[in-house]
Amino acid sequence: MTLGSAVRWDKIQGDPTYRQTFLSNFQTLTPEYELKMADTEPQQNQFAFNYSDAFVNWALANNKIVHGHTLVWGSYLPAWVTSRRWSRTQLTAIMKNHIQTEVAHFKGRIPEWDVVNEAFTDDGKLRQNIWAQDIGSSYIPLAFKYARAADPAARLCYNDYNAEVAGPHADAVYNLVKSLKAQGLIDCVGMQMHVRLPGYSEQALRTNWQRFAVLGVSVYVSEMDVDTTGFSGSAVQAQAAQADAYRRAALACNDVRCARFTTWGFSDASSWLGSAAAALPFDANYQAKPAWAALTSVLAP
Ligand code: G3I
Repeated sequence: MTLGSAVRWDKIQGDPTYRQTFLSNFQTLTPEYELKMADTEPQQNQFAFNYSDAFVNWALANNKIVHGHTLVWGSYLPAWVTSRRWSRTQLTAIMKNHIQTEVAHFKGRIPEWDVVNEAFTDDGKLRQNIWAQDIGSSYIPLAFKYARAADPAARLCYNDYNAEVAGPHADAVYNLVKSLKAQGLIDCVGMQMHVRLPGYSEQALRTNWQRFAVLGVSVYVSEMDVDTTGFSGSAVQAQAAQADAYRRAALACNDVRCARFTTWGFSDASSWLGSAAAALPFDANYQAKPAWAALTSVLAP
């Protein structure tokens, strides 16, 4: 199991303390947005990899594993995709070209990808993003098929939030993963774990995650943060409750032998939730919080 974090290239380049805190504490790196379609294919079939190449090459030069995030998502898309409707044939060709160009470009440098991100709603229905609307539900297996063809050695993941414990969302993800696994198209499932206090019990997480492990896919905690907004106690009590939430996730991760445990950022100063959420294991001054001790003391090597 490796400890990882989502990281931003502009912060790595511009903030030495951010850079050193990451380098000293994490083994894997998920680019927070730099590999997403809006940045890598800003114009149709005109790819822009200079920025992400510099980022990925820096990570490899520092012996970090890069987790590719994400090839097909309904958000952070370039305007040329979202500004019109497409025929199924047209958008399928666009999706195939995007996936195969990006995966081939990073082949040998990025060993695993979130192929599809957040495809279901909390009631277990297909999220009506442009891919679902203009291609249909087949966009998901097609995306995995194109990625598998582009780099047969890469580990291919499905990634989602609110599917961490039993419920219709988790069931939809489970049924998808089971179908993709039967076709030899998937290797991992990312449980994002964007949670609020108090977080989930170890048992609830383990019960859900175990069924994915039984399918033969690796469970990844892919984007964890624990939002402390609205906690009624003191800041010290909030940090203790937060540490316990991280601890329970780490224990459940050990229970199912997670391959990766990744937080979505590592310092409150650069969390997508804003610093007031105080959601990450390091505070805004890059000081380790009790959550960090909880993670590092519990997670199996
Ligand atoms: O787009 C510019 C880019 O051109 C510029 O170089 C860069 C540096 O200034 O800024 C970029 O702006 C914003 C970027 O975050 C950096 O702050 C984008 O406008 C903004 O959309 C982007 O938001 C990211 C969001 O995904 C959309 O990509 C968040 O940082 C990131 O935390 C969030 O992460 C998502 C996961 O991918 C999926 N799971 C949920 C998670 C949280 O929403």
